[in-house]
Amino acid sequence: QVIRQWTGLEELGTELSRKLGIQKVMVVPGGDDHDLTKHRMARSACGYMAGVLQEGSIVAVTGGSTVASVADEAVTAGLPAGIRFIAARGGTSGDVKSQANMIAAMLAAATGGDWTPLHLPETLAETSIGPLMEEPSVMEAMDLYNRTDCIVHGIGDALELARRRGADEATLEKLAAEGAAAEAFGYYLDRDGSVIHRLLTIGLNRSQIDRIPHPLAVAGGKEKAGPILAYMKQAPGQTVLVTDEAAAREMLRLS
Ligand code: F6P
Repeated sequence: QVIRQWTGLEELGTELSRKLGIQKVMVVPGGDDHDLTKHRMARSACGYMAGVLQEGSIVAVTGGSTVASVADEAVTAGLPAGIRFIAARGGTSGDVKSQANMIAAMLAAATGGDWTPLHLPETLAETSIGPLMEEPSVMEAMDLYNRTDCIVHGIGDALELARRRGADEATLEKLAAEGAAAEAFGYYLDRDGSVIHRLLTIGLNRSQIDRIPHPLAVAGGKEKAGPILAYMKQAPGQTVLVTDEAAAREMLRLS
């Protein structure tokens, strides 16, 4: 019974990966129970990472509750030791467990690896960015971003993420008027995956992301079907998506 369930999901993933134009889609059962499916997605994500990473690999991570569950699962996932983890951007207020720096530190502790902190606020004043780029710790992070083997990232609804980041009403209205549909890495995207707004931030940028051999997106829940579809419109072709059945079926219905 269980094997039949997962076999069906494998076919679902294959169909979806063709539609999305990405390398692979891994679908876990369920979707209504967010905690349970996050745990399952995290296990699948760790399984994938264990297969492609090795000692010395560099892995960047974004924040968010879904990527945080990957760190929870990593303890028993058999990832190779000696991986270097780095936050893909700086810190925000809110749940400390969902911060990229914390997730990088937890992954390093769970797998016998190391981590490089990026101790910056996630959003910066425009005038701060130039001088901060001269900081040795930021230069070290930039060097690691240029050599990153795998990025583990979440995908969210644009307006929800903007609210989570404390955007004011004017910004929210502007994003809505421009058709903001998805958010990933601090980029706000419309339904075609085009960037309509970007956080003023220092972190992994779009051209670095395009060059990463193993971009791993982890996002599920029926309500994320729209944001995932939007993000995948212009995602790197080598992207692997780990999602759940509810999001996968809704994506097929919408596309
Ligand atoms: O804020 C970091 C981030 O990875 C966003 O880029 C993404 O949209 C969001 O978290 C996903 O959060 P969650 O996994 O909690 O839905």
